[in-house]
Amino acid sequence: MCLTIPGQVIRCSGSKAIVWQYDRAMEVDISLLPDTKPGDWILYISSMAIKRIDKKDADEIMELLVSKPPIEMGLLDSRFVWIIKESRVRDLKRDELIYLLNSEGLEKEALFREAEITRKAYIRDFICVHGIIEFSNYCRNNCKYCGLRRDNTNIKRYRMEVNDIVDLAVDSVNGKGYKLLVLQSGEDLYYTKDMLVDMIKKIKSKCRVFIFMSIGDRDYETYKSLREAGASGVLYRFETSNKELFSQVHDKDFSRRFEHLRFIKELGYFIASGSLIGLPGQTTGDLAEDLLTVKGLSVNMISMGPFVPCEGTPFGNEPSGSIDISLKMISVARLLMKKIRIPVVTALETLDSVNGRRLAMRAGANALMFNLTPEEYCRDYKIYPDRFIERNSLLEKYALFKNDGSYEMLEKRLQEVTNVT
Ligand code: 5AD
Ligand code: SF4
Repeated sequence: MCLTIPGQVIRCSGSKAIVWQYDRAMEVDISLLPDTKPGDWILYISSMAIKRIDKKDADEIMELLVSKPPIEMGLLDSRFVWIIKESRVRDLKRDELIYLLNSEGLEKEALFREAEITRKAYIRDFICVHGIIEFSNYCRNNCKYCGLRRDNTNIKRYRMEVNDIVDLAVDSVNGKGYKLLVLQSGEDLYYTKDMLVDMIKKIKSKCRVFIFMSIGDRDYETYKSLREAGASGVLYRFETSNKELFSQVHDKDFSRRFEHLRFIKELGYFIASGSLIGLPGQTTGDLAEDLLTVKGLSVNMISMGPFVPCEGTPFGNEPSGSIDISLKMISVARLLMKKIRIPVVTALETLDSVNGRRLAMRAGANALMFNLTPEEYCRDYKIYPDRFIERNSLLEKYALFKNDGSYEMLEKRLQEVTNVT
C-alpha cells in the first residue's frame, strides 16, 4: 500500500544491513530477505526490508520521488517569497492562495519545489497506492460535465453483481495487497441499503481493508448502516464551492451537499472530497475558495482534478481544465494542509499520460489510485473519454506489501489529518 524510496545495501552483518537512501545511510533489518548482499537495491518500511528490486525499477521510483533542490529565494519575487515563508508558520489567506495559484515561470517552479519539500518534511517519501472499483455506471443525476449523466444515451450502461464486486475486492486485497479500496458508482439506487450492507459485510469478513464508498447522495440512515457494516470512508466531492456555478452545472442542491458532508463526518467516516478544476466560468478565486473549503472540512484525502470534456454532454465542446493550474492546486493544497493525502487523479494522467503522474508527485501529491474495474466494464465508465488506465504497473507491483503492518501504518496516517477512529 505504501512505497518508499529504494535504498542500496552497502554492507550486511547478520540480520542487519547498512543501506544508503539517496541522501543518508540507515540500518535496516533484513531478516525477511536473508540472502541480501552489498549492492542490492531494496524497499523497506519501518526499518524492515520487504522486497528486493531491480536497479532499473529503483531508478524509475527514484525519478518519481527524489526531490529537486529548492530555488534560491534571492532570485524570486519578494511577495512570493514572503507568502512562502508565511505558509511555513500559519494558514494562508484567500488572497495569498490566489497569488500562489497565479504564479508563473521561476515562481511556479519554486512553488512546486516548496510543496515537494513540505511533503517530504511532513509525510516523508511515501507513495500510497489505493484501488478503485467502478461497479455501476448508471446515474440518476444530470451533471452537465459528466458522461454518466442520465440523459447521455451514447454509453452502454452496466451493473456488477454484488458477489462479483465482493470477489474482485477480496482478490485485490488478499491477492494483490491493496489496503484501501474505493467502491464507486453513479448515483444508482438499484443498489439498496441492504445490498450495499451485504456487500461491505462480505468483503470485511474475508479480508482486512479500508472501504471508501463513492455512491453519491444517500440518506443519513443508509450511510449510518454502511458505517456499521464496516465502511471506513466516503468519497464525495462538493465539485465547486461557488454556489452559483454549482447550480449551473449540477442538478443537486448546493447546501444539501454540505449538509451531507457534515453528517458523513458526524458518522465517523474518513472523508475524501474536493472540486473539479477548470469548469466553464470558474475563476482562480473559486479555486482558492475550494481549497479553503477542503481545509474547513478537515478532509483526510483531497479528491480534485481537471475537468475533461465529454461528448454527449452539454460541456462536450468546452476546453479541458489546465494541467498547469491542476499542479498548482496540488502544491497550494500541500502548503495549506501539510499532512493531507493527495492522490494523483486519473483525469490529470489522462491529460498528460507521459508526465502527469511524475509532475503531480513533484508538485506535492503522495498517492496513486489504480483502477481495478474489470476491463469489460471499465471502458463504459465514461465520465470522460480515453481515460488513462494502467494495469499491473511497476508501482502496483512494488507498492503493495501484503503485511498487516502496512494496514496499521495507513490507519495511523489517515488519522493524522483528523481524529476519526
Ligand atoms: N472530467 C473530470 N472529472 C469528472 N467527473 C465527472 N465528470 C468529469 C469530467 N468530465 C468527476 C466528478 C465526480 C467524480 C466521480 O468524477 O468530480 O465527483
Ligand atoms: Fe452522476 Fe456523479 Fe456523473 Fe454527476 S458526476 S452525473 S452525480 S456520476
